[in-house]
Amino acid sequence: MSASPSPRPLSVIVTRLRAAGCVFAEDEARLLLAAARTPADLAAMVDRRAAGLPLEHVLGWADFCGLRIAVDPGVFVPRRRTEFLVHQAAALARLAANPAGHSPGRPRAVVVDLCCGSGAVGAALVAALDLIELYATDIDPAAVRCARRNVAPGGQVYEGDLYEPLPAALRGSVDILVANAPYVPTEAVGLLPPEARIHEPRVALDGGEDGLDVLRRVITAAPQWLAPGGYLLVETSERQAPHLVAAAAHHGLIPRVARSDELNATVVIGARPALQSGPRG
Ligand SMILES: C[S@@+](CC[C@H](N)C(=O)[O-])C[C@H]1O[C@@H](n2cnc3c(N)ncnc32)[C@H](O)[C@@H]1O
Repeated sequence: MSASPSPRPLSVIVTRLRAAGCVFAEDEARLLLAAARTPADLAAMVDRRAAGLPLEHVLGWADFCGLRIAVDPGVFVPRRRTEFLVHQAAALARLAANPAGHSPGRPRAVVVDLCCGSGAVGAALVAALDLIELYATDIDPAAVRCARRNVAPGGQVYEGDLYEPLPAALRGSVDILVANAPYVPTEAVGLLPPEARIHEPRVALDGGEDGLDVLRRVITAAPQWLAPGGYLLVETSERQAPHLVAAAAHHGLIPRVARSDELNATVVIGARPALQSGPRG
């Protein structure tokens, strides 16, 4: 049920949101009106948004790849640019599950989503692919609680540092390993918009001195977890990408960069070489 427009008509809410600096005030006002159950609820939501809380935290969900992803306060809000990571991963998952393009291949792609936050990336991959076995990890308990809701039923979410909480049996069998880890350099965190800087946890943003502390660790261990012919995909910035390409090559992966100017998104992809079949005869 949504709140009756009166006593706060749309225009009043739009004016309030615009004054608070919301660029898409009309769209936001409509979403808040649709989400509020009572006029009091609506007033409280408008107050929270005008005070600077991210819209997604006020609504309790974010639109990501056409899905409603639950996002609790204090959990990283999935970004539109990360949809590019999902599209790249989905295309490669189809290839990994069916390498020849016509044989049935392996029945289910094994997908791991490291630093999963709300679980948006994994949930979108589950929605995009028919057969997928999903495992996700995050170090932040609030993110893990949120992700468990978003990838249910079926996806497994573990709390802990990168690969550490994953079942050991997954070693060497992961077809697709995705990570949208923190990659903002420490000194740039203070320059982020207040919605991120104030309302998202530092652990979700701060990637260390050059932003690549977590991603380097992701790449270093990836070859131990990937299946032969499997792929690692990490979101990064255009400027950082060459460093990750070098790191991936150093650890025996075949690297390349995928870029979407439309979404201002950069993804470094590392392929674990497939096993060579032995000499015949
Ligand atoms: C930029 S957010 C991305 C969240 C999600 N992947 C997305 O795209 O919406 C980074 C996430 O990494 C998690 N994180 C940071 N360091 C981690 C670590 N060492 N191990 C596991 N998760 C970590 C944070 O808690 C946060 O949820």
